[in-house]
Amino acid sequence: MSDNTPWFEGIRFPMVCFSPEILREVRDKFLVKDEDTITVTYPKSGTNWLIEIVCLILSKGDPKWVQSVPIWDRSPWIETQHGNELMKSQKDPRIYTSHLPLHLFPKSFFSSKAKVIYCIRNPRDVLVSGYYFTSKMKIAEKPETLQQYMKWFLQGNGELPCKVGVSELKDTRSIVEKICQFLGKKLKPEEIDLVLKYSSFKFMKENEMSNYSLLPNDLTTEGFTFLRKGVVGDWKHHFTVAQAEEFDKIYQEKMAGYPPKLFPWEEC
Ligand code: A3P
Repeated sequence: MSDNTPWFEGIRFPMVCFSPEILREVRDKFLVKDEDTITVTYPKSGTNWLIEIVCLILSKGDPKWVQSVPIWDRSPWIETQHGNELMKSQKDPRIYTSHLPLHLFPKSFFSSKAKVIYCIRNPRDVLVSGYYFTSKMKIAEKPETLQQYMKWFLQGNGELPCKVGVSELKDTRSIVEKICQFLGKKLKPEEIDLVLKYSSFKFMKENEMSNYSLLPNDLTTEGFTFLRKGVVGDWKHHFTVAQAEEFDKIYQEKMAGYPPKLFPWEEC
């Protein structure tokens, strides 16, 4: 991997939208408030799906908000230049997003009562999703092959921040109900139906406020599709047996000591 992507505290960041100054400011000075709700994920784990669900819960299933404001303005990424700027005028109660790992997360969070919703996805699917994303975005070095991307990924040199990676959103209705409970929002069953409808893959893919078609052209290349497949287990169509074995060996070494029940994909 060439060295034209910036590093900050052991994490490689995309070439655009980030600066060491902002990353430092976010970690040291960003004031997390007790009423904040923060979506935290490893990139390509379903971040935008979760944001859409949270926004729709807050609007009780009314799609007006998600269909009129770009997703990155509804729940800004605090570590990006755009998101950080936007946070300065964000009204309470705030919702925002971050891919930052623990050691770069705002320090003030740890003494706050803010709510974090953390989403994890099978890292094998994260890898495949990240591979396609990076291949079509002009924000990071392009991998020539999946094998090359896998090498970067397993070294922790992925093009996007974070070193660790909502539980896989399998039974989406029960996840939505859990999030409602966590946020203290009482929704009627028909409102939950609307949340599920408008956050579904089909609706998000058609919603230009959520499907990233509003990204400036100079950030993407021909064929870029943000909502690519949205399925569990796509890695099985991409990994060779040797790649799966290589991945598993490193995964087991790195995850040694974690209870397997923590990770739903272990049961598949
Ligand atoms: P795939 O590339 O596997 O299709 P993130 O938002 O963290 O960047 O994650 C992007 C991944 O979430 C993509 O995975 C995308 O298709 C998937 N995704 C986004 N919205 C979804 C939805 N409503 N239902 C299912 N998957 C969704």
